[in-house]
Amino acid sequence: MASVLRWYADHGVDEAIAETPVNRLDQAPAKPVLAPETPAPSMAQRIESAAAPPPPASQAVASAKEVAESATTMEALHTAIESFDGCALKRTATTTCVYDGNTQARILLIGEAPGAQEDRQGKPFVGPAGQLLDKMLGAIDLDRSKVLISNMLFWRPPGNRTPTAEEISTCLPFVERMVEIIKPEILIYVGGSAAKAMLGRSEGITRLRGRWFTYTAKDGREIPATAVFHPAFLLRQPGRKRESWRDLQAIRRRLESYT
Ligand code: URA
Repeated sequence: MASVLRWYADHGVDEAIAETPVNRLDQAPAKPVLAPETPAPSMAQRIESAAAPPPPASQAVASAKEVAESATTMEALHTAIESFDGCALKRTATTTCVYDGNTQARILLIGEAPGAQEDRQGKPFVGPAGQLLDKMLGAIDLDRSKVLISNMLFWRPPGNRTPTAEEISTCLPFVERMVEIIKPEILIYVGGSAAKAMLGRSEGITRLRGRWFTYTAKDGREIPATAVFHPAFLLRQPGRKRESWRDLQAIRRRLESYT
């Protein structure tokens, strides 16, 4: 049993979905199904379903766009995200984790997705990676009272697996709207997922970090944007902190040039 559980955990299955455990060994074996309970669809039915409405993924994106665009304040956007049911991750997550920090800030940081502790507390970057992120911000005299921190996804992917392209595109309209509402002077993508999704580029973080890009918001506003290594990566590869230090100093210089 222990090795089966380890095998599950290695594959990212580390979440109990139900409140109480179920011993499947005690349950009566399922009766063999001798005949299909529903008849196979006729040719006419198959043709009809092929012409059915768009698949759930595109419906979810369309509905995310609609509700995101109707939000004009961060409070309204927060409520819209919390009541949005188009992302399947919401079903396995404990909380909706939207943002932390100052909604009047000049700097908006966007990470990947909540992890286990973020999922419990409903706040981005509060686990070990968040503690390192706080230190990185502290190194350039910033803290959560001076920045706003959010993620590309608002629900934890089970086992912290990498978000799928579908999950990212479903949540993207909310992130885009957040940029429009906050109007930051600088956007910082924390890690490769956010950098690639927001910049629409395919290079990895090693190529994207330390450079300046222009992010054009939906309202046409042009915002300087840069990418930094994700603190979770730096925890695994502390030797890369030297590059991160240089990236942070470049952000500090850019901020000083605005004051
Ligand atoms: N990693 C992220 O990208 N975001 C969080 O909120 C926590 C860990």
